[in-house]
Amino acid sequence: MPTDASWWRDAVIYEIYIRSFGDGDGDGLGDIAGIRSRLPYLRDLGVDAVWITPWYPSPMADGGYDVADYRDIDPRFGTLADAQELIDEVHAHGMRIIVDLVPNHTSDQHLWFQQALAAGPGSPERARYLFRDGTSSGGPPNNWRSVFGGPAWTRVADGQWYLHLFDVHQPDLDWQHRDVRAEFESILRFWLDRGVDGFRIDVAHGLVKHADLPDIQTDHEDMLEPPDRTDHPHWDRPEVHDIYRSWRAIADSYGPDRVFVAEAWVAKPERLACYVRPDELHTAFNFDFLRCSWHADALRAVVDCTTRALDAVGAPPTWVLSNHDITRHVTRYGRASTRGGGSQHESHGPVDVALGRRRARAALLLMLALPGSAYLYQGEELGLEELEDLPEEVLQDPTWERSGRTARGRDGCRVPLPWSGFRPPFGFSPGDTPPWLPQPQRWVSLTAELQKREPDSMLALYHRALGVRRNHPALGEGAWSWLPSAPGILALHRVPGLVCVVNISAGPTPLPRHERVLLSSEPLPDGALPADSAAWLQVGDHHASQRAAATSFPTDGVPGRG
Ligand code: GLC
Repeated sequence: MPTDASWWRDAVIYEIYIRSFGDGDGDGLGDIAGIRSRLPYLRDLGVDAVWITPWYPSPMADGGYDVADYRDIDPRFGTLADAQELIDEVHAHGMRIIVDLVPNHTSDQHLWFQQALAAGPGSPERARYLFRDGTSSGGPPNNWRSVFGGPAWTRVADGQWYLHLFDVHQPDLDWQHRDVRAEFESILRFWLDRGVDGFRIDVAHGLVKHADLPDIQTDHEDMLEPPDRTDHPHWDRPEVHDIYRSWRAIADSYGPDRVFVAEAWVAKPERLACYVRPDELHTAFNFDFLRCSWHADALRAVVDCTTRALDAVGAPPTWVLSNHDITRHVTRYGRASTRGGGSQHESHGPVDVALGRRRARAALLLMLALPGSAYLYQGEELGLEELEDLPEEVLQDPTWERSGRTARGRDGCRVPLPWSGFRPPFGFSPGDTPPWLPQPQRWVSLTAELQKREPDSMLALYHRALGVRRNHPALGEGAWSWLPSAPGILALHRVPGLVCVVNISAGPTPLPRHERVLLSSEPLPDGALPADSAAWLQVGDHHASQRAAATSFPTDGVPGRG
């Protein structure tokens, strides 16, 4: 087990969406046994840690983000003993493990909610959730909308309404209630006692609601496109920070190497920085990078704004391109209309998958050259694209039904991984059981087994990039600066002696002077960097920025964090 207490400041963390990573028992659904058998793959890939999406007992109304019992494992995924074995094995492989904590809401099958329904209006059991009477005209208590579509309130048999910012089966807890706070502190200890290295906090920006539950002035609220206002009645309220201060104290009591990462969709980097002040959470996902379009100036601005805001509180940035809620970035980058911008699952015109993959390769080298930590989403190392044409009858994301079958939702980025072989389930399951979402036959050319043997595959690039990142003294945390560069080109100088050049212009660009090419996302004909590609260059240590100066790279660097 690694011992470095500040490992999280520049770790590469691999998200395992448990339903779709590996199936050990052959029922077509991923599980703990499937993860355990593939730990050597992750170790060989070179990641530092894994984050596992919720594995708790759940009716799966939202893929496990509807938790019925926070201290156990869903029988479809395994047992608590299996989870313990996994935690220990991850450590034995020299990696860390982060589990997913879902504090904003429970499942409607959670004991507390069942008790609340049975106990009736005005009872102490109801006070743990947000039950309210409707308006005098018989409507819901306010105009809030569910992130998945439709109203955020549902009426129960006795006439009261309960709040659910997500699915109707995910009632929101009332975080003003002391039982709720005490319960989650105890849940944190439960998993810390079992040796987990940290928690990803689901909807970390949503826990506390305005006490008066006032109407929202706009009629459409979307978690993935946060409002730019900062006085929202249920997102990013200042009261949430008090909760995280108490959680930080608990984590610290287990040692400085236990960490939190917040899923917080907020308006701007300065707001995100509030979550990672020294006595709060350690890190937070930086979704601005993920939402940014494939344009040099836009990417440069995101890197600058992010690092400036987080530097001010002493927290390391995180970088992420895809996750289980977002259109896979191969598809986003392959779409002329967005060039990777935005994050939603709605289609915006045709996709050039080959172009998307090419840009994804370049984006990887940019992401891994930036200071701080990076998150990978399972399957991106295989270059998987979003499946936007899944048959309607297989769709499971609650978004599909709650939007009145107008938004297909997130299933297209959750299709089980292709591991090996020539037809589905491509080694995902031991037998022939069809996976819970169907894989396309064309993924036969993307299996991990095949890509391992191809030196130019996406998997090979990930493998090499993670290897260089681990061993090169300039990468990870540390000093960086932009080198001046031609329009459409990003040139990032890391100390000592590494320059990452990304070409987002329409044609090839000359490489700055260098000692050798450490890695490039594409071949470099005539020593030039082609469009939509990136390279890591070893440059002379001392005067790197001067030496990097070639025709398109003037001499003086722009200082970044030092
Ligand atoms: C987070 C999860 C998402 C889930 C939602 C509600 O955004 O990443 O998958 O649906 O929270 O728990």
